[in-house]
Amino acid sequence: MTTQPDLLTQLLSRRPGTSLPRDFYVSPEAHETDLRHIWTKEWIFAAPAAEMPKPGAYVTLRIGDYPLIVVRGADGAFRAFHNTCRHRGSRICAAAKGTLAKLVCPYHQWTYDLDGRLLWARDMGPDFDPGQHGLVPAHCDVAAGMVFVCVAETAPDFSAVKAAAARYTAPHRLDELKVAHQSTIVEKGNWKLVMENNRECYHCAGSHPALCRTFNDDPDLVGGDDSLSSPAGRAHVERCEAAGLPSRYILGANEQWRLVRIPFLGDAVSYTMDGKAAAPLLPGMPFANAGSLLFFHYPNTWNHFLSDHVLNFRVLPLSATETEVQTTWLVHRDAVEGRDYDLTRLTEVWTATNDEDRRVVEENQIGISSPAYRPGPYSERQESGVIQFVDWYARTLVRSITGNALLAAE
Ligand code: FES
Ligand SMILES: [Fe+2]
Repeated sequence: MTTQPDLLTQLLSRRPGTSLPRDFYVSPEAHETDLRHIWTKEWIFAAPAAEMPKPGAYVTLRIGDYPLIVVRGADGAFRAFHNTCRHRGSRICAAAKGTLAKLVCPYHQWTYDLDGRLLWARDMGPDFDPGQHGLVPAHCDVAAGMVFVCVAETAPDFSAVKAAAARYTAPHRLDELKVAHQSTIVEKGNWKLVMENNRECYHCAGSHPALCRTFNDDPDLVGGDDSLSSPAGRAHVERCEAAGLPSRYILGANEQWRLVRIPFLGDAVSYTMDGKAAAPLLPGMPFANAGSLLFFHYPNTWNHFLSDHVLNFRVLPLSATETEVQTTWLVHRDAVEGRDYDLTRLTEVWTATNDEDRRVVEENQIGISSPAYRPGPYSERQESGVIQFVDWYARTLVRSITGNALLAAE
């Protein structure tokens, strides 16, 4: 069994620029440590706001041992609650999503308002105070049209990412989007392998024939560096900014999130097999050839904001070696399927890409699970984004486990 001090020792003696020791990808104790020190402390992307367009719309998710419900109130606000009844603790909503007028526990029908207040409980006696038995809230906030939750007692400051994301995504008019399609897959791999794989395109040419028709895998564009050292990247940022599209690379102060707008290959405008648009131009966009605004926020999301649609990706750990990846395709709410867009055309590139990524992550997990695995060196040129993610992970974990003590001395 691996203990937390073992993990801390391994992190502190880790050779920088190499993949993590095996325990971090396979051991249940490391998984518990990730849940305790990252997943239940940080802001976690729960659902696109467009998935809950009306009061009463809800989405449920699970972060480790915490079942949660995110619900849109009668006032339009998004709220998150622990999905556990204040009577005897039953889970209240079992479905992944839906719409309801009130939250009714299926066990004994205690009934809660959409704002979490307990409205009704049968035969609880004259001394029972419903005011003391509302649902337990979790932190909930919206950035880039995406609802985030945090189950920590005190949530980290979210203001900088919210402000930057609002500015960068404003031309995409995220409050006018609707969900066109959503897919949920399970990858038999540790969540960090899913994120690491996303943070490099070293594997793209060998794995993603459909994506590589439009996606530029130049590491200067997609790595840990800004996009300006690529001539195409620089020209794109300058052209987009001149047209009023915020595009220049920003990395959050703690390197937990990034925004940058990068160009597609040639004159492609969207992730389609022919590079042409998949849906009508979003009304706030000045032109179709705006490339992709990339937004990641660790530990659980990466996103692409295009001129015609938006892609949100949500990663949730299920166990040490299983991870759920949910992808949502969003288009303008006035676009009509079959008339303005074809669902297959809209989704085929990333459906294929997700499956290809699932395969490489699963093979990576099988290889790492071998006792013969040794941490290997990253390519500084090709895998700077992976180095940046793994360093963020190691730093965040060490800081949380030690209560800042070790890093404060740096
Ligand atoms: S556990 Fe919910 S009403 Fe009894
Ligand atoms: Fe990939």
